Amino acid sequence: MLRFLTGGESHGPGLMGIIEGFPAQVAINPDAINRDLARRQHGYGRGGRMKIESDKIQILSGLRGGKTLGSPLSFTIVNKDYENWLPYMDPCQIDGESKKVTAPRPGHADLPGSIKYGFDDIRNVLERSSARETAARVAIGSIIRQLLQNFNIQAACHVVSIGGIAVNTLNPSFHDLAKAEQSPVRVIDSQAAERIMKLIDQTKMEGESLGGVFEIMITGVPVGLGSYVQWDRKLDARLAYALQSIQGIKGVEFGGGFACAAQRGSQVHDEIFYHSDRGYYRRTNHAGGIEGGMSNGQPIVIRCAMKPIPTLTKPLRTVDINTKQPCTAAIERSDICAVPAAAVVGEAVALTVIGEEFLRKCSGDSLEEITKQWKHWQSL
Ligand SMILES: Cc1cc2nc3c(=O)[nH]c(=O)nc-3n(C[C@H](O)[C@H](O)[C@H](O)COP(=O)(O)O)c2cc1C
Repeated sequence: MLRFLTGGESHGPGLMGIIEGFPAQVAINPDAINRDLARRQHGYGRGGRMKIESDKIQILSGLRGGKTLGSPLSFTIVNKDYENWLPYMDPCQIDGESKKVTAPRPGHADLPGSIKYGFDDIRNVLERSSARETAARVAIGSIIRQLLQNFNIQAACHVVSIGGIAVNTLNPSFHDLAKAEQSPVRVIDSQAAERIMKLIDQTKMEGESLGGVFEIMITGVPVGLGSYVQWDRKLDARLAYALQSIQGIKGVEFGGGFACAAQRGSQVHDEIFYHSDRGYYRRTNHAGGIEGGMSNGQPIVIRCAMKPIPTLTKPLRTVDINTKQPCTAAIERSDICAVPAAAVVGEAVALTVIGEEFLRKCSGDSLEEITKQWKHWQSL
């Protein structure tokens, strides 16, 4: 069974991850992981922190001579900003007063987190609840991508809308998504990209923040990942759980998604055809590649809605957790809009679920063993 954990505080010494159950003999290229980490850091609308960090993975175990050993794969990503935070973030001894946060931000983990863990300093909450953690998840997704590429499974993402400005391109192909890589807002429609960047500038001046919607597409997923036999084995349910766990994600939909609810059955369900060369095939993909909790061989298409960033430079009203007096919310250095970055995180997180389910179907200790199972499965 493939499983993983992440650790690390936003301004602590670094992030870490550990992946268990990863097969042996898989070639892993750290440069490819660093490219995915850089994709997460870019994007118009991100704050000053991303100018300080240039994330690089340091693999600590599970890899020898560029190939996995089958032992736990562990890594760290150093937080460069830690140097600036040493007096406040040293694991053993700190200046606990000067960076104390007592004004919880509405929409963040601040208030419920400090009540739950009994803290009088919200910094103890925000350091871990912050989306800095997603750098570790991107690294894990990137490692799993390198396994899945051996089986022609690929993933990409793009931004569909920001602050209500939607991209014109409907149902783009996997090939089209490459255009998003060149866009500062990860949008394939250059006119919409211009309008979105203007909106981000204006929003910044107004002390506000923005959310949006991004789409993930995964191709090459064979029929039969996930299962209908038990609620917690359904592929769409497992993907929704994982994607919903990303900081700021408020909704997940597959294929036609919420719009299906207003349509008729014949507009929503993908008719089935058969050809001796191709096998079963569909002419549409309203289901987003999943039927009955299982992949059906079509591209998996998922959209996630991200709420506007909670930290505002024109802060909202709140209550000081120690004095209980009204005040305005704390201002941490913050993004205005992180939808393009969240799309990269979503892509990585979706890959982790596909990787787990793939290895459940094609289990084995080494790449060779898994490949034999995969070939057998393809031949059925
Ligand atoms: C890539 C990424 C970057 C984010 N950057 C910020 C940020 O700079 N400031 C902020 O307040 N929230 C940011 N968020 C969102 C918060 O982390 C999130 O809203 C918060 O943890 C509360 O969780 P919830 O929105 O899921 O309830 C970011 C989220 C992601 C995915």
